Amino acid sequence: MIVATLQEPDDFEAWRDEARRLVSQGHAPHEVSWRDAAESEDLFAAPPAHTFSPAPATSARTVRANRAFLDQAHLAILHRDGARLDLLYRILWRLQDEPRLLGDPADPDAGALHRLVRQVRRDIHKMRAFLRFRAMPEDTGPPRYLAWFEPDHRIERANAAFFRDRFASQRWSILTPRLTLHWDGKSLNEAPPARREDVPAHDATEDLWLGYYRSIFNPARLKVGAMVKEMPRRYWKNLPEAAQIPALIAGAQQREAAMIATGAPPADEPAPTTREALADGIAQCRRCPIGCNGTAPVLGEGPLDPPLLILGEQPGDTEERTGRPFVGPAGELLNAHLTRAGIARAQAYVTNAVKHFKFERQGRRLLHQNPTANEIDHCRWWLEAERALVRPRAILALGASAGRALLGRTPSIGRERGCPIPLPDGTPMWLTVHPSYLLRLNGAASTRETERFKADLALVSAHLARENRLHTPA
Ligand code: URA
Repeated sequence: MIVATLQEPDDFEAWRDEARRLVSQGHAPHEVSWRDAAESEDLFAAPPAHTFSPAPATSARTVRANRAFLDQAHLAILHRDGARLDLLYRILWRLQDEPRLLGDPADPDAGALHRLVRQVRRDIHKMRAFLRFRAMPEDTGPPRYLAWFEPDHRIERANAAFFRDRFASQRWSILTPRLTLHWDGKSLNEAPPARREDVPAHDATEDLWLGYYRSIFNPARLKVGAMVKEMPRRYWKNLPEAAQIPALIAGAQQREAAMIATGAPPADEPAPTTREALADGIAQCRRCPIGCNGTAPVLGEGPLDPPLLILGEQPGDTEERTGRPFVGPAGELLNAHLTRAGIARAQAYVTNAVKHFKFERQGRRLLHQNPTANEIDHCRWWLEAERALVRPRAILALGASAGRALLGRTPSIGRERGCPIPLPDGTPMWLTVHPSYLLRLNGAASTRETERFKADLALVSAHLARENRLHTPA
């Protein structure tokens, strides 16, 4: 039996080099036993215990591993399951003759690998979502930030680049039971494990964060089961805001009832009643991160009292640059379909659920990012004010985000398209897909979805014709 020992349990490159060598020399999985030094103190005390003697070079064969396997193995190796290294080796061995192995949903090895990857991915996401920095005042210079986190798997190093990029200009340390990561603004270094007590229990910035959490906690949206699933209880002890959750849940129904009774929006100022006031208010809105991202808002355009309001999701970069909704590629496609359906865009009011462009910067490019449900909910206050001002008699909602902005829940387009949905004030709303969805499709899917989109617009057009408004000769 060959015992192959990995000195660092998350060292994918070391595993890959050794595994490639063993496969190339023809060692079947039952001949190789993989360990990592972290698994046993004996092994740790007596590394590397690799009793393998290289076979003659003549027996070496080329080893193939496709990108999908390498990507998944990269993550799976971070799992704490002690059997993961043997599993990876077995899969690499089998891939030599079964290149489609990972696509077989019934294969137990493929299934086990997918499971490990899923759990590691989830852990990576949890660390990004639930790690909380606390400010440590420094004698000189800006504060240093410390955070304590207990991941389930060995994901600390894999996540380091994420925190480095996100907090590049700060000095911070992430302390964990396995190792500590330090970023000094220029380089990332590792230090020995730490203890939870090494991080202060409270800091001043926490009060700001707690206030923010209270303000965005929406009692009307409260689903305790879903919340616990997303934010498992075991993370609560390290989350300052979690201490508030029981009280917020307890008060949620009361607050929801109060919101419904007063119809109060999540702000205490009165809703704007002129276009200018609406434009000013939106331009100054900082209630969610999109409002703070420095982009110019894109306001709705079109006549007041229109027969139709067309609602999109959010402006894209072309819209942001020109300050007008639906003027980029999705807008061009929308215009073509509206014309074909006999709906005159110039007589409709066109706007978006979210008024600022949400993007991720990639080099010089700004890539569109979907707004979260929370961001859509925050912007609903502006949309409600806009609707009250514009008074459309019918609404066409393009995509699930637009649907959510109007309904207060994320609708199923598949189930809810094709007939008008009455909004609480009686306005009929038609729901269909967003034109940018059509732009992403090809072939048969594109043809099928385009036909369904046309059929949806034809229904709206027929309604407008019945109302004798907005109908242009097709
Ligand atoms: N997509 C939208 O939803 N709205 C726009 O204004 C442009 C693209």
